[in-house]
Amino acid sequence: MNILILGSGGREHALAWAIRQNPKCDRLIAAPGNPGIAAVAECADLDILSRAAVSEFALENAVDLVVVGPEAPLAAGVADALRAAGVLVFGPSKAAAQLEASKAFTKEICDACGAPTAAWARFSDAAAAHDYVSQQGAPIVVKADGLAAGKGVVVAETEDQALAAIDMIFDGAFGDAGAEVVIEEFMQGEEASFFVLSDGINCLPIGTAQDHKRVGEGDTGPNTGGMGAYSPAPILTDALQQQVMDQIIRPTVAEMAARGTPFQGVLYAGLMIDQGRARLVEYNVRFGDPECQPLMMRLGAQALDLIHACAEGRLDQVTVNWAADHALSVVMAAKGYPGSYEKGSEIRGLDDTAEDSFHMIFHAGTSEKDGRTLATGGRVLAATGRGSTLAEAHGRAYALIDGIDWPEGFCRRDIGWRAL
Ligand code: AMP
Ligand code: GLY
Repeated sequence: MNILILGSGGREHALAWAIRQNPKCDRLIAAPGNPGIAAVAECADLDILSRAAVSEFALENAVDLVVVGPEAPLAAGVADALRAAGVLVFGPSKAAAQLEASKAFTKEICDACGAPTAAWARFSDAAAAHDYVSQQGAPIVVKADGLAAGKGVVVAETEDQALAAIDMIFDGAFGDAGAEVVIEEFMQGEEASFFVLSDGINCLPIGTAQDHKRVGEGDTGPNTGGMGAYSPAPILTDALQQQVMDQIIRPTVAEMAARGTPFQGVLYAGLMIDQGRARLVEYNVRFGDPECQPLMMRLGAQALDLIHACAEGRLDQVTVNWAADHALSVVMAAKGYPGSYEKGSEIRGLDDTAEDSFHMIFHAGTSEKDGRTLATGGRVLAATGRGSTLAEAHGRAYALIDGIDWPEGFCRRDIGWRAL
């Protein structure tokens, strides 16, 4: 098979690494890719938000399967264009990607199918939103409806913070993504992520994870895209997974199908667990980054078989072979992230690292110049270890971190603390 992966982050490096190991993979191309991905795939320069450019590229290169990494091409309808061109694709249509691209849409789906989630209301003007906050009181959660790169959510501890968040969103802080505001009940509990493949009808759980969103140790400081993650998440017991499948995932997938917009791809449910019960916080329509890194370390080559079966609508014919193991990923970011940071510092020590199915350093924001690896992003590397226990995976990930010579970078030393 010729396979094209869209994206350039640590998530896509992990996908490429796993897919490359499968003997069914002949040619592997990543667009645009990164220097880490270049070790396992050809990297191609391509505007991945252009429906025409991606379809043309796939046809010209006889691509058999396109795996879409990030949400932006999905929200732009790239999967629809590929399907229309007769190319097999892993990832939802633009209509089904609304499950991530519009928070109000997701809430409506939850209400329609009875999936447990926070009470909510939607507003298109500030005055009505202010009134609602005054009625409900704080804490309360204010969200821009659309895609805001993970920054469109304010968990307000006071009414004043909530009112300020409403004004910020309606003043255009997130552009069109803030044309509507969703206000939600604050949910207490512990968060975990659940990943389920769906081919539109069948649903196949492929793993649980927990990430660390805050930049600082002890889960303090501003939110980031994720500073580390591990899989499995022990809090998502078999019984809870069953509850989530029965009350949240299957009803959502059935509702989407009933509306004529079946969901095909990976449904990433962000869950809040409290008193032995899970409620939905949000959906994403792609793998998490960095959650994908430990998931791919655990799945290995079978990831391609599962993704392929999902794209072909035969998830009822495959099963996941779980090695009873754990994986943990620690993100190294540029000092200053998630605020402003320097670009272009050199990272040393990567060439000396022995990488195998228990130790991998996935690249996110790197570039290569004259044989040197340079940091070019906020989140730059994801050192990932796998082991028979979480402690072993943790030790391996941090041993990789300790071999990286990059004074301009930093990481959290406490990834996995809840589960360890
Ligand atoms: P979202 O982008 O919707 O996942 O929100 C980002 C983060 O905000 C979540 O991971 C939670 O930590 C927090 N959050 C979102 N909605 C709620 C809620 N209703 N109650 C409590 N925390 C929330
Ligand atoms: N790590 C969170 C996300 O990918 O959305």
